[in-house]
Amino acid sequence: FQPRVLEGRKVLITAGATFERIDAVRGITNTSSGKMGFAIARAAWEAGAEVTLVAGETALPTPPGSRRIDVKSAQDMLSAVNAEIDTQDIFISVAAVADYYVLNQSEQKIKKDAHILTLELAPNPDILASVACRPRPPFCVGFAAESENLIEYAQAKRKRKQLPLLAANLVQSAMGAEDNELILLDDAGEHKLPRAPKLDVARQLVTHLARLYDADHPA
Ligand code: PMT
Repeated sequence: FQPRVLEGRKVLITAGATFERIDAVRGITNTSSGKMGFAIARAAWEAGAEVTLVAGETALPTPPGSRRIDVKSAQDMLSAVNAEIDTQDIFISVAAVADYYVLNQSEQKIKKDAHILTLELAPNPDILASVACRPRPPFCVGFAAESENLIEYAQAKRKRKQLPLLAANLVQSAMGAEDNELILLDDAGEHKLPRAPKLDVARQLVTHLARLYDADHPA
C-alpha cells in the first residue's frame, strides 16, 4: 500500500535511453533499460499523481496509469518535454540522454570502403537544465549516474543545474539492473535508499520528493 502523497499532482518523467542516428540503419545509444524511470512512473501513479512518461528506446510495457509519449533522439525528448512542461507540478529526469548527436549523419546507409570514417559529434541540449532554469520551474528531480566519485560528481551536478533534489547512483549497479540503490541529495544532506528492487526504491523516492514538494508548497 502506497500512501497517496502525490494526489492531484501532475508529474512528468523521462526514462530510458535516447538514440542518435548515424545513418538509415545505425545509431548511438546507451544501456539504460528504462526500468528505473518506469518504476518511478508506477510509484507516482500509485501515490495519486497524473503521470506523463516520455520514453526513449525501451521494450518495456507502459506502466499502469501513465500517458506515454515515445521518442528517439535527445532533440525529440526535448520537444516532447517542452510540449508538456507548462502544466506540470513535478519533473523527474531519469532518462540517460545522449550528450552528443551526429552532425554528419547520412540519409542513406553508409557503404563500407577502405577509408577511415569520422563521425562529428555536437553537444545536445540539456533537457533538465533547460527546465530547471525556467522563470517558474516545476519541482525538478535530477539523476546522476556516475562510475566513480559518486557523491562529489552528483553534488556538482545538483548545484550546476540548481535542483532541489538529485538521486545519485552507480552506473555499474544501476544501468539495466533489476535492483538499485540511490543516494538522495537535497538541502538537508544525504539520504541513502538501500539496494532493493527498482519499484521499492521508486516508492521511497516518491515519498521523499512529496515531502520536499509539500514543504515548498504549503497548503
Ligand atoms: O534505465 P535503467 O536501466 O533502469 O537505469 C537507470 C539509470 C541508471 C539510467 C538512472 O537511474 C539514471 O541515473 N539516469 C540518469 C543517467 C545519466 O547519465 O544522467 P547524467 O549524469 O548524464 O545527467 C544528469 C541529469 O541530467 C539526469 O537527470 C539526466 O536525465 C539529465 N540530462 C542529461 C543530459 C541531457 N542532455 N539532458 C538531460 O536532461
